[in-house]
Amino acid sequence: MATYYFDNSATTRPYDMVIDLMAHIMSEEYGNPSSLHRMGMEAEGYVRTAREQVAKAMGASPEEIYFTSGGSESDNTAIFGGAYKGRRQGRKILTSCIEHPAVLESFARLKEEGFETVLLPVDKNGVLDMEAFDREMDEDVILISLMHVNNETGVIQPVEEVAKKKGHALLHVDMVQSFGKLPIDLHGALSGVDMASISGHKIHGPKGTGALYIRRGLNIRPFLVGGGQEKGLRSGTENVPAIAGLGLAAQTIYINRERKNEHLREIRDYMRGWFEENVDHILLNSSEDGAPHILSISFEKTRGEVLLHTLEQSGIYVSTGSACSSNKKGQSHVIKAMGRTDKQVEGTLRFSLCDSCTMDEAKFVCEKTKEAVERFRRLGSFR
Ligand SMILES: Cc1ncc(COP(=O)(O)O)c(C=O)c1O
Repeated sequence: MATYYFDNSATTRPYDMVIDLMAHIMSEEYGNPSSLHRMGMEAEGYVRTAREQVAKAMGASPEEIYFTSGGSESDNTAIFGGAYKGRRQGRKILTSCIEHPAVLESFARLKEEGFETVLLPVDKNGVLDMEAFDREMDEDVILISLMHVNNETGVIQPVEEVAKKKGHALLHVDMVQSFGKLPIDLHGALSGVDMASISGHKIHGPKGTGALYIRRGLNIRPFLVGGGQEKGLRSGTENVPAIAGLGLAAQTIYINRERKNEHLREIRDYMRGWFEENVDHILLNSSEDGAPHILSISFEKTRGEVLLHTLEQSGIYVSTGSACSSNKKGQSHVIKAMGRTDKQVEGTLRFSLCDSCTMDEAKFVCEKTKEAVERFRRLGSFR
């Protein structure tokens, strides 16, 4: 059976050349970058190249890039590091209620430690409520963490506006879903951002790899101590093959980005239009000006989980909301925050695209989704 993989916000298939490079490093050039001999220097060279590739893709300098085990670790490191750094100036930290659990759980823990945490609301389109932000912004705020693109809806958040209003607070941005899709220029349009997280497996790189951008001159408390790798921020022997794979993926994803985004937008808009025309009682959770690769739709009077498994029987892979949490059955806090009812949230499916998705595949996915929705509604098993 053919595979229709429309779950690229959960994870992506690594590029063939990433797999080849990683296999080569693992089998032939397996030195430790800290070793003084030739094999060590070769390994160090791979890490250096990857740092340059990631820095270039983010519009940053190589010395501002720290490799981590992924988006979650980058988020944790930035948030705990940023909060501890500022605790003498204030104890208030702000985020939005639609963040990834890696951010929300970090905030929950900091609350237990005595920080004043504020989870800002979003409007019905899923965009941060700037009036609430303005109300909460005061001298006591030391850290703001805001995602760039929401992983369930693709909605773009007003990061640049927040950066202008951040005052003396540090601004951390989770760019896990925007990196590789939107232009990221941390020395340009996004120069107000102090720390930014990315993840390798969302851009056709390996899982368990990511990076944290930390603006030059900003020092935060390391999470892992030991041998002092990553300039003391993250001790432990570098995962050289994964880091090299991340670097190559970061470089490759931005080649012909404009053209690739047009392709994604064409497919996403086709699917949106098709569903609007051919399936009754649906609610769109993604906006036209959102990231081009995500389309979230609530099919009323259905259950997303049942639709997902029905589609799977035709080789189609999608998500109900986010697959990034082990709490697979939990209701989406993101769609709920947009003011949807529990029943609407329950019927939500997220289709997420990558460059190799085709229009023919999208047409098949649309037809099969309609069949699944109608079957569910006909059987009337929804209460
Ligand atoms: C917005 C966002 N932040 C953080 C993460 C966590 O990244 P990772 O899986 O690399 O830990 C994800 C995805 O899982 C995500 O979509």
